Amino acid sequence: MCGIIGYVGSRDCVQIIQSGLSKLAYRGYDSAGIAVCHEGDIDLRRAHGKLENLVARLALEPMRGHTGIGHTRWATHGRPSESNAHPHRYGRFAIVHNGIIENFLELRQELIDRGHTFASETDTEIVVHLLAEYYSPERGFAAAMHDALRRVRGSYAIVAICADFPDEIIAARQQSPLLLALGEGENFAASDIAAVLAHSRQFIFLEDGDIARITPSSIEITDISGKPVTRAPKSIEWDISAAEKQGYPHYMLKEIFEQPQKITDTFRGRILEEEGLVNLDEQIAAMHIEQSKRLQIVACGTSYHAGLLGKYVIESLARIPVDVDVASEFRYRNPIIGPDDCFIAISQSGETADTYACLKIARERGAKILSICNVMDSTIPRASDATFYTRADPEIGVASTKAFTTQLASLLLLAIHCARAKNTITKDRAKSLLASLRSVPTHMESILAHSDQVRAAAQKLLRANSFLYLGRNIHYPIALEGALKLKEISYIHAEAYPSGEMKHGPIALIDDRLPVIVIAPKNSTYEKTLSNLQEVKARGGRLISIVTEGDDMLTRVSEYAFAIPDCDELIQPFFSVLYLQLLAYHIADLLGNDVDQPRNLAKSVTVE
Ligand code: F6R
Repeated sequence: MCGIIGYVGSRDCVQIIQSGLSKLAYRGYDSAGIAVCHEGDIDLRRAHGKLENLVARLALEPMRGHTGIGHTRWATHGRPSESNAHPHRYGRFAIVHNGIIENFLELRQELIDRGHTFASETDTEIVVHLLAEYYSPERGFAAAMHDALRRVRGSYAIVAICADFPDEIIAARQQSPLLLALGEGENFAASDIAAVLAHSRQFIFLEDGDIARITPSSIEITDISGKPVTRAPKSIEWDISAAEKQGYPHYMLKEIFEQPQKITDTFRGRILEEEGLVNLDEQIAAMHIEQSKRLQIVACGTSYHAGLLGKYVIESLARIPVDVDVASEFRYRNPIIGPDDCFIAISQSGETADTYACLKIARERGAKILSICNVMDSTIPRASDATFYTRADPEIGVASTKAFTTQLASLLLLAIHCARAKNTITKDRAKSLLASLRSVPTHMESILAHSDQVRAAAQKLLRANSFLYLGRNIHYPIALEGALKLKEISYIHAEAYPSGEMKHGPIALIDDRLPVIVIAPKNSTYEKTLSNLQEVKARGGRLISIVTEGDDMLTRVSEYAFAIPDCDELIQPFFSVLYLQLLAYHIADLLGNDVDQPRNLAKSVTVE
């Protein structure tokens, strides 16, 4: 995830910004840079790779200044490189930006037509060119920012400097976190508290639409139309470790709670609701995966579970046959794959050795290669014809959470795209599905508000030796994912079965010591699942169910029942999996386990 720090005051800011960037490093990044106002101009140093590279650059080419900005970049538009690193400088300005400018292609063309030339592949660079376009010394720096941002669609946390205003930084926020830290004769802007905690305990959290003009001794906040707004400062007493986790006790819990925002990011610019269409990157659209005879999905672990769900949604909407394999199986079974097929690698890290080995097999045999990945320009995307980036930002907790739900969101978008291209769903059905997808983040927020109830259930369940997870249809992959989460971090045995398969064996396990987690919202297989539940109840099993809001009957017969909204069947998994992530988290935490770094597990499995 990109990180921002800005400083205006009387101290030399390079060291302050550099040490602020080091506090942002935990978020993951692939390049970094600093820009300062100096002697009527802007000085800039950037470096690809680790912060040490930037520090080495600064040692060779030192710079000084009292007003400056710094950034750690995690690539989303444009590969990781020095020219794509922030700050971006143009004319009298330099800016850093987190977020995504949705209309950057059209703005870029407009600016090129007006004679601008661009030095990077980023969406961010548009904003610094717009600043130059709208700037006049008489109207000032802040007015140029207002004008520029009126042209921009998307999400941003922006901090900018202008050589003509060396005692000023401008900060603006729209759907991407940004705060101001207040000092004595100095002020700061940052994307997160950790970057500035060494200097201040007083913070103003900007809200969407806010634009702040910050000098060493003043802060003026206005909305985009220039109307003043008031934001009260808050005191925060966190230590640095709490600040890095934004106050959450673990990265995993922070990442669980980030999911509504990350899914919003996955959707950004990709949903054309009115047209009932999905707007894919040109490279992906050009692959015409909907014309493939068959899709072959390959992945490991949690990404494999996303792939299984992908099979259900792609087959049901687009009527294309989909096979899903665990990578370590696919690679050694002499698989049937060829030029008529599209191979889809799903990998959060983009570095998983088994998945990459399968990709190479598919490439040798002439299949088209698409990847769904979270890390830009990692090994798997580089070896693919095109990549659908999930935009979950770096995942630090070893147990995957937000990577999974953004993979689901990506697969649903691909499914709707293929279905529309093949005419297997109507425009109206696509519109209604896209509207349902848009509602996912809001519903997720309301489910996350029940975290304490899940913790209370976890307290009662944590002594169990084993759990059984049941789900049908699209909830079967979610049952698998729930069981995997519990195993990974609580070290309690758990297995998942398709509900209808229970009577073929696992039913023998059921007694009053076995918690059975059943995902049973109202959908096309609800009635069938009900009979499976009766089978559990009849054998004295402890029933924990995930139900549709208002399902009193199921709630009554369950020891614990967690409700999801009454919604389109295809989006139910986004909600059921949240409860299962929370349950695993709370059980593991109550057991005192190292939730973020569970024993024996690595975040990126780069060996076979
Ligand atoms: C589970 C988990 C792993 C990964 C698997 C694949 O919480 O994180 O099962 O999903 O190792 O990793 P990627 O998606 O990076 O290929």
